[in-house]
Amino acid sequence: MDLFQVKPRIYYGKNSLKSLKELDISRVFIVTDENMVRLKVVNNITDILNKMNVEIKIFSNIKPDPTDEEIIEGMIELNKFDPDCIIAIGGGSPIDACKGIIYFTNKIKQALNEETKKQIFIVIPTTSGTGSEVTTYSVITSEGRKIAISDEEMLPHIAILDPEFIRTLPPQIIADTGMDVLTHAVEAYVSLKANMFTSSLALGAIKTVFTDLVSNYENPELESERINMQLASCMAGIAFSNSSLGINHSIAHAIGAKYHIPHGRANAVIMPKVILFNSKVEGARKAYDEIAKALEFSLKREGEGAEILAKAIDLRKAKMGIPMNLEDLKISKEQYFNDLEDIIDLIYKDIATEYNPRKFNRNEIRELLETLY
Ligand SMILES: NC(=O)c1ccc[n+]([C@@H]2O[C@H](COP(=O)([O-])OP(=O)(O)OC[C@H]3O[C@@H](n4cnc5c(N)ncnc54)[C@H](O)[C@@H]3O)[C@@H](O)[C@H]2O)c1
Ligand SMILES: [Fe+2]
Repeated sequence: MDLFQVKPRIYYGKNSLKSLKELDISRVFIVTDENMVRLKVVNNITDILNKMNVEIKIFSNIKPDPTDEEIIEGMIELNKFDPDCIIAIGGGSPIDACKGIIYFTNKIKQALNEETKKQIFIVIPTTSGTGSEVTTYSVITSEGRKIAISDEEMLPHIAILDPEFIRTLPPQIIADTGMDVLTHAVEAYVSLKANMFTSSLALGAIKTVFTDLVSNYENPELESERINMQLASCMAGIAFSNSSLGINHSIAHAIGAKYHIPHGRANAVIMPKVILFNSKVEGARKAYDEIAKALEFSLKREGEGAEILAKAIDLRKAKMGIPMNLEDLKISKEQYFNDLEDIIDLIYKDIATEYNPRKFNRNEIRELLETLY
């Protein structure tokens, strides 16, 4: 038996934020980061809520790659305020933190046999991006390690994709987060759990990234590219939430937490070599061929798709100033090679590894990790 989950109600396009007006709510707890407050992005929401005479509490102590400490602080604030609606607004970091706050609060209440109150959970992404608005996943940093957890309780009830919220994105973040979308979609497509639902969404997202990401990066004011990337991010999110990811993400989690590399950038730097590594097994090789053909590359022989795809990704990275390897990220060689055994342990423990198309032993994954530097 398999499951394809279609859950959040998704409002999208211009003025979709107005959907908030339809809600019957009285106390709203907003989880976000300081940038969203400083750029007055949050005001778009509070302006509407104030007109609805709703009590609002803003918790904005979330930093990129949220930690368990930030989540505990949020749980205390949530418990004090006792809302009937929770809104996460921001990139993947505030969204994942909010999911963690909700999840662990409910776990404690269940352990104490306390009733869990019905709270509407709304997510408004401001990056395109993690797709976290439609996934069961949350990535939390604890003791310097990124831990991905997945649970249906973290799936939002409503996602609002209003292009107004991604207007302020700087080019560098467009590039990094856009490459995260590509990684989600490619990993979802080659995953051992891929199916027709997930593959068609993943392929749609891949095509959009290939046509629109570089021009979105070069001309952030162009509206159609910006909106297309927002939808592609969401599509890739639905795909990977149902089909799982792969070792590109396991490696990115490990090195992202160790060397403080933004998540999308970590994925982008390593993606071409991970594709070549996975293409050593037949299933993945065929899947990369299908992706390359869908992108209208002509293949001279079977199995060439992975190489073509890896080169095409490197070309796009170069156009957006994304480094080609870990050395370019100024990670110390000595440190990295000393860390390899620990990184391998983390890869084996990461839930993203389970459905990676290629199974491997420690020597094989070590070889890949060495080539990434
Ligand atoms: N839950 C999932 O399914 C999932 C999937 C992939 C990644 N992640 C996690 O999500 C996190 C990364 O999220 P992210 O890449 O969206 O970045 P982020 O949330 O960490 O934000 C990066 C920076 O961009 C700024 N920013 C965000 N939106 C902006 C806007 N509209 N205008 C100006 N600045 C803006 C933020 O303030 C921050 O400084 C990582 O912790 C990663 O591990 C989660
Ligand atoms: Fe990701």
